[in-house]
Amino acid sequence: MNKSDILSRTEDYVRQKLEGEGTGHDWWHIHRVRSTAIQLGKKEDADPFIVELAALLHDIADHKFHNGNEEIGPETARKWLRQLEVKDSAILHICDIIRDISYKGSEVETPMKTIEGKVVQDADRLDALGAIGIARAFAYGGHKGRELYNPEIAPESHASFEEYKKSTGPTINHFYEKLFLLKDRMNTEAGRKEAEKRHQFMKEFINQFLSEWDGSFE
Ligand code: ADP
Ligand code: NI
Repeated sequence: MNKSDILSRTEDYVRQKLEGEGTGHDWWHIHRVRSTAIQLGKKEDADPFIVELAALLHDIADHKFHNGNEEIGPETARKWLRQLEVKDSAILHICDIIRDISYKGSEVETPMKTIEGKVVQDADRLDALGAIGIARAFAYGGHKGRELYNPEIAPESHASFEEYKKSTGPTINHFYEKLFLLKDRMNTEAGRKEAEKRHQFMKEFINQFLSEWDGSFE
């Protein structure tokens, strides 16, 4: 099968699997991450086939929805790509990206081994920021039955992926535990610049949110 058929078959597969998902890990998240990754990949001279396939498959089966199982994503992608007879070295590369891409806690480093991985991780992280990042955070928090905010529960610092996966704090805490930390962890120059803009927008949102919190106004 040629590369363009592999990409379009994979797009159809991911779309039918994630269409209508309600926590911000839906097909349109994948669609945005793919566009952003392709754009960053051009600037960084990354392999466009690996970038696009990894972006399409990066959330095909997420540990967050499979009892913390970190192997389910790479395993699902491997099976799919084998079926399409993608060559082994490309499968290994893409599965490595899927395994390494996720945020794992404020004290845990998440280095990507290749430029293709760096580009896809930046694209995924940009979609966690800005207006869309805010919307996704509350969609996810609602799905998990979390409070929007609780001033009596302080944000936590997570020293391991295990600890991070167990956290159940209110959604506003997620901004301090992850989202506000991302701008300093971007891999590419263009990603960093865009992250900075989206970060500022989220800061304004949080300031406004907290100013409305106790119900008083001027
Ligand atoms: P990652 O693999 O880095 O977790 P994903 O694409 O799977 O990236 O999606 C992460 C998104 O899921 C976050 O940006 C946020 O929108 C949502 N999310 C994950 N954990 C939480 C949480 N504890 N509270 C609110 N939103 C969360
Ligand atoms: Ni994602």
